[in-house]
Amino acid sequence: MEKKLVAIYGSPRRDGNTSELMDSFLDGAAHNDYAKDAQVERIIVSSQKITPCRGCRSCSKTGECIIDDDMQQIYPLLVDADFIAISTPIFFTTVSGYLKAMIDRCQRLWSLKYEHKKKIVQKKRYGILMACAGSGNPKIFDCARMVIRSFFDVLYVDYHTDFVYNKVDHKKDIEKKAGALDSLYDFGKSEELARLLREGK
Ligand SMILES: Cc1cc2nc3c(=O)[nH]c(=O)nc-3n(C[C@H](O)[C@H](O)[C@H](O)COP(=O)(O)O)c2cc1C
Repeated sequence: MEKKLVAIYGSPRRDGNTSELMDSFLDGAAHNDYAKDAQVERIIVSSQKITPCRGCRSCSKTGECIIDDDMQQIYPLLVDADFIAISTPIFFTTVSGYLKAMIDRCQRLWSLKYEHKKKIVQKKRYGILMACAGSGNPKIFDCARMVIRSFFDVLYVDYHTDFVYNKVDHKKDIEKKAGALDSLYDFGKSEELARLLREGK
């Protein structure tokens, strides 16, 4: 069966640092003997119409979200994915607001899992995080890691690893960071990614 790789671009800068990391990962995956056959779905969150969660708790009653916007097309992509890659800049110590809005709308999936006790994902799957921050403080990624871990938990995704880079601020800074783009390309092309995709059932 064809594997599905979902790539979530969290930055509003289409050609910014974290988008370059994601593009490099996908380039590697396109040259991976196994992953090259996966269907790649790119979600550029800043190009989607995603209203923030209103906290109305309709999903607690019905398991559905009453807001009719692009999230209705994104939910099935998240549920069907065999691998989820997320890239985000650090904005005020956490993920971008665009990405956080998408994650908050997954309250519907939280509700299905913990209130409705419905296991909507049957397969085993993995995910990774890529992030850049202007600051040199390695702790600047702690909050984003927690947010993504909690998002992955709701989606039954194992947090495999992350690729985070400090002192990356202006566009193209990531290209000057020795080994950064190569690391993502290499991971995309690796047997490790093939194994993670194969393990997904
Ligand atoms: C609104 C905003 C908030 C930011 N907040 C932080 C921050 O709290 N800590 C930090 O280290 N960098 C911060 N930055 C810098 C970005 O993380 C950095 O420029 C990153 O490389 C942007 O990635 P991108 O090019 O993929 O958008 C902020 C930038 C913006 C625009």
